Amino acid sequence: MQILQLKLINFRNYKQIIFNFSPKKNIILGNNGLGKTNIVEAIYYLALTKSFRVNNNLFLINNESNYSIIEGDIKDKITNNYKIIIENKNKRVFINNNQIQKLSDYISKVNIINFNPEDLKLIKDSPSIHRQLINIEISQFDNIYLKNLSIYNKILKQRNSYLKNLSFKKNYNCEYLNILTEKLIDYGINIYNLRKLYIENINKYLNSNFKKITSKEGLILKYISNYENLTKEELMKKYKNLYQSDINYGKTNYGVHLDDFVFYYQNVIAKNYLSEGEQKNVVIAFKLAEINIFIDIKKTIPILILDDLFSELDINKINKIFKLLKKNLQIFITTTDINNINDKTLQNSKIFKLKKNNSIKEIIYE
Ligand SMILES: Nc1ncnc2c1ncn2[C@@H]1O[C@H](COP(=O)(O)OP(=O)(O)O)[C@@H](O)[C@H]1O
Ligand SMILES: [Mg+2]
Repeated sequence: MQILQLKLINFRNYKQIIFNFSPKKNIILGNNGLGKTNIVEAIYYLALTKSFRVNNNLFLINNESNYSIIEGDIKDKITNNYKIIIENKNKRVFINNNQIQKLSDYISKVNIINFNPEDLKLIKDSPSIHRQLINIEISQFDNIYLKNLSIYNKILKQRNSYLKNLSFKKNYNCEYLNILTEKLIDYGINIYNLRKLYIENINKYLNSNFKKITSKEGLILKYISNYENLTKEELMKKYKNLYQSDINYGKTNYGVHLDDFVFYYQNVIAKNYLSEGEQKNVVIAFKLAEINIFIDIKKTIPILILDDLFSELDINKINKIFKLLKKNLQIFITTTDINNINDKTLQNSKIFKLKKNNSIKEIIYE
């Protein structure tokens, strides 16, 4: 999969610009603050209708405007035009100029694997951030997952507000709570199975990718869920035992909305043991495993973005990472310093050199 052309109107610092990308290597070069990450953020947004940096769309719209358009021609088997119009808090998505009503029918068509320093949160942060990040990854892999997730979240909301309601009552009838709980379990089991399968697939490649980069081994991503090994009937029993405490808290204290994903290195939690640079390699090994499973299962090669990868990795590791990349992969690399990139990588790449006034000089390196 390749993005051949990207048009931005009023996106971040870009008022109006067209990029014609190389189907292979694109290097975005420029000092800090010039808008390198903004370009890859736009590509990511076009695929996932989300930014990896901010939750509020208003940050994305150029500060002298009130709307923003991201548009790209993306080639898979055929080339399609994807477009997102962002206005205030709303966004509209289009494929070949036809508006798509449900975001879940749009997401998962364009596949991006994005490495960004923010991704270290996948190791460092709390279970809720781990879940958020993994949800995004599985959603673009499988839109059935996204659909299950949004129904589960709706039922969870209903159940929580019903529990709050019950907390004001002395006597209650379990009938409606039983119905909500059963629905929650049904969708929860679907999510559990899809998460389990995804993590199993990741682990087929994770450790060997890590070993190829660092020569160290023993890396595994563990999926931790309170649904593990339980049948629907057993789960129903668990919930029933918790009814009173759920009512007391006014929320659901059991379910896949509390799952976690934790990297372990040689049986210890990676964040407590590995250095910052090693953690970056863990994330890279994970992202490369995602590419591996896209190829295995979806028979397509996603677009790879490596934003600021070089700031903490030595050239030796970077060369090893590049050796692992597939031939027909389109890649975007942002960097402040061209000297970080070796001559072999520079060969056949298109370099976009950002200048202060947003003028962009394209250089094709030979
Ligand atoms: N909504 C916006 N409107 C105009 N400029 C913006 C907006 N959001 C961010 N910027 C500008 O974008 C620049 C940061 O771009 P970024 O892509 O993060 O830089 P880098 O090249 O370091 O990756 C900052 O100078 C900031 O002022
Ligand atoms: Mg940046």
